[in-house]
Amino acid sequence: MELCSITGLRGKVSVPGDKSISHRCIMFGSISEGITEVHNFLKGADCLATIRCFRTMGIDIEENDDTIIVHGKGLHGLSAPTDILDAGNSGTTARLLSGILAGQTFESKLSGDESLNSRPMKRIMVPLTQMGANISSILRNGCAPLYISPGRLHGIHYDSPVASAQVKSCILLAGLYAEGTTFITEPTLSRNHTELMLKEFGANIRSSHALDSTKVTASISPCRELYGQKITVPGDISSAAYFIAAGLIVPDSEILIENVGINPTRAGILKVCEDMGGDITLLNERIEGGEKIADILVRTSKLHGTTVEGDIIPTLIDEIPVIAVMAAMAEGTTVIKDAEELKVKETDRIETVTDNLKAMGCDVTPAGDGMIINGGRLQGASIHTLLDHRIAMAFSIAALVAEGNTKILDSKCVDVSYPTFYDTFEQLL
Ligand code: S3P
Repeated sequence: MELCSITGLRGKVSVPGDKSISHRCIMFGSISEGITEVHNFLKGADCLATIRCFRTMGIDIEENDDTIIVHGKGLHGLSAPTDILDAGNSGTTARLLSGILAGQTFESKLSGDESLNSRPMKRIMVPLTQMGANISSILRNGCAPLYISPGRLHGIHYDSPVASAQVKSCILLAGLYAEGTTFITEPTLSRNHTELMLKEFGANIRSSHALDSTKVTASISPCRELYGQKITVPGDISSAAYFIAAGLIVPDSEILIENVGINPTRAGILKVCEDMGGDITLLNERIEGGEKIADILVRTSKLHGTTVEGDIIPTLIDEIPVIAVMAAMAEGTTVIKDAEELKVKETDRIETVTDNLKAMGCDVTPAGDGMIINGGRLQGASIHTLLDHRIAMAFSIAALVAEGNTKILDSKCVDVSYPTFYDTFEQLL
């Protein structure tokens, strides 16, 4: 994809359904009794991988133009997979599914693409093993492919060293199949879609701030069954983030992004934009299906640097590449810290973000847990996405304000989370 600078992005857009929620609709629907009907499902490669995995375990999932119908078979209705379960590029598929597989009475193997098979799985293997699961890394390198065989699960108190919704969700899902109650504590609150949604599906799940108030816990006890639901997936704030950034940095722009999920555990980017002096207004705020939703109006703004650190990090972890692009166009210095988790995303995003910003002429210094960016001007460059969808999209926004042409290599990788990304852009031009 070749892009150049523009001005005046104006109009209304809506973004595809939330990726995290779309995955969970398929997973929870498959292990529920009855039908789960999903509207505004994200048909990105990651969520399609989740569908594929559950079909491999005997679940009938209908894909229509505007709905997905999951014919759930109940908590104990999955059948032994007919093939190796292929999670593709999706960490959410691999880690959440492992929690479900640990509680089954059949063996399974789970694998993914090169990127996924190099991401850490010990973070789920350790707590699952403590729960009595039999899970191992086939190549003994702490990564997928994973082999999971039946085990007798029991509840544990797990004090997670990382604020990760994938780890938390994996343990909670295994907890559905464990004897007794499973508790998880995390250093700061990660996205809570699993807690909100499993409650709707009928699970015995609770979440609360722990007594020392710096830690957050969730607990789950087994239940007899979960029950299919009708769900409308809100627009993905992680996809909206690219249009928020474009609206703020492209001169003479005004963009209305409709129906975006603004769950506080996901909406850190809004706070950062505000801290940077961004003109953002939330309109039509409402709650649908337990999730907060709003339309977001963004206007071109003169941004200034800020510090992004601490508890806010898990609420914007996937938006850091595009926040870095905004910082590169802001006046002054932006410091991003406490974000070492960036290193274990689809690529090492400290490296991919800073290398590509440098290629565009930005004064940026990588750090062990983030980066320091001195705002200024950007020049066109060839962007090495390393097949990371968020790098492709973040640097497509950078291209819109850079002098000269920018080439996004392997831009097709946007299909992972936002197959219509470039079409939506054209709508605004
Ligand atoms: C996700 C959790 C986050 C996020 C990922 C989706 C989820 O990962 O980066 O894109 O749906 O639970 P971690 O749990 O590894 O932080």
